[in-house]
Amino acid sequence: MSGHGDPIPMRARRSGPLQGVAEVPGDKSISHRALILGALAVGETRVSGLLEGQDVLDTAAAMRAFGAEAIQRGPGAWSVHGVGVGGFAEPDQVIDCGNSGTGVRLIMGSMATSPISATFTGDASLRKRPMGRVTDPLALFGAQAFGRQGGRLPMTVVGASNPVPVRYGVPMPSAQVKSAVLLAGLNAPGQTVVVEKEPTRDHTERMLRGFGAQVSVEDQAEGRTITLTGQPELRSQNVTVPRDPSSAAFPVCAALIVEGSDIIVPGVSQNPTRNGLYLTLAEMGADIEFRNPREEGGEPVADLRVRFSDLKGIEVPPERAASMIDEYPILSVVAACADGKTVMRGVKELRVKESDRIDAMARGLEACGVRVEEDEDTLTVHGMGAGGVTGGSICATRIDHRIAMSFLVLGLAAQQPVCIDDGGPIATSFPMFEPLMAGLGAQIARAER
Ligand code: S3P
Repeated sequence: MSGHGDPIPMRARRSGPLQGVAEVPGDKSISHRALILGALAVGETRVSGLLEGQDVLDTAAAMRAFGAEAIQRGPGAWSVHGVGVGGFAEPDQVIDCGNSGTGVRLIMGSMATSPISATFTGDASLRKRPMGRVTDPLALFGAQAFGRQGGRLPMTVVGASNPVPVRYGVPMPSAQVKSAVLLAGLNAPGQTVVVEKEPTRDHTERMLRGFGAQVSVEDQAEGRTITLTGQPELRSQNVTVPRDPSSAAFPVCAALIVEGSDIIVPGVSQNPTRNGLYLTLAEMGADIEFRNPREEGGEPVADLRVRFSDLKGIEVPPERAASMIDEYPILSVVAACADGKTVMRGVKELRVKESDRIDAMARGLEACGVRVEEDEDTLTVHGMGAGGVTGGSICATRIDHRIAMSFLVLGLAAQQPVCIDDGGPIATSFPMFEPLMAGLGAQIARAER
């Protein structure tokens, strides 16, 4: 849904040890894909553990607008009656993807090779984000896009009537672009090939296979090469959505920086395309035990025991960026509480997320007394050691859920409270963040206006 209600100012105070079990919600990336592939399959797909954040609810509404049925049967339990590949109907309303770049880009891909048109919009954050990275490859299939200057929403996509298959090298590390091309390839004849120089999250490839599509993946000299055979009949599935490692990052990092903490975070994905934060934290000296490794919903998962740790700054290598792209805001909070400097290189994609996340974190950390340096592609945080961050500021969250949660976590370990101007966007990915953190002993509350 475009926009949200009145701003919700919030405040986090220095807290005692965090303790208990943090059951984080379902994975956002996998939830979007379960609804979209369910809508393109024949028959009833049952999804359990769906993230019921606003981003995913907006994708469910979009799937209904394209003619599929998507209904909630219980908490996290959904049923999707799909229309089959190529079966989307033309929506008679504007598709409002709210705050979700993943939602709008994947849905554009999934309709771009059908002979229908759709007009997309979103909230003030999404309307600033570039869509050309998706509409450029969709044009190769024969689709057309008419948007605002700079390829911004609102935008109308006219799907190709006679789509042709495509071979596309994704110019930036982006699972959204890769996925949009693969979803478009579903309704093109022949083989669609996507090459990515750096591996990005692979949920689309995994799930397409689960729904019965023929997808092969090869590591070649030019990069990871994914070949999809078009016009399959997708068969409905039961999808169990694992917990979101990007949401787990917030309680995990909070426990690492709040003295005396000792928490359990069960069922965190260990998918190598998503686990860069956990490798980085280990290098910083984090005390994290990975217990009970197993498979859930087709993803490798483990239960994490996380204890307060003395952390040191490190250099995060640029080739790790894609596997932790959503975790740099919370990593920069951890870096502020470590000894020494942390250098995060190869992170320019952060500038085109829900906000310019390099700028948002740099300005907020500075306001809390932390020295930060940045250039287009690098963020450096000079750590102040455990308990060393001053805090005492109001940080701007810029309609960005991960910026909001990151500064609230910082407030749990800072000397003075940290306030944020608006916690409303947290509901896009982690609606139960406030009660979950309170259950661990975190002092996070809505502030007076
Ligand atoms: C996502 C891909 C990433 C990530 C986003 C979710 C996905 O975006 O930041 O939160 O589900 O494919 P990019 O593809 O733009 O890197």
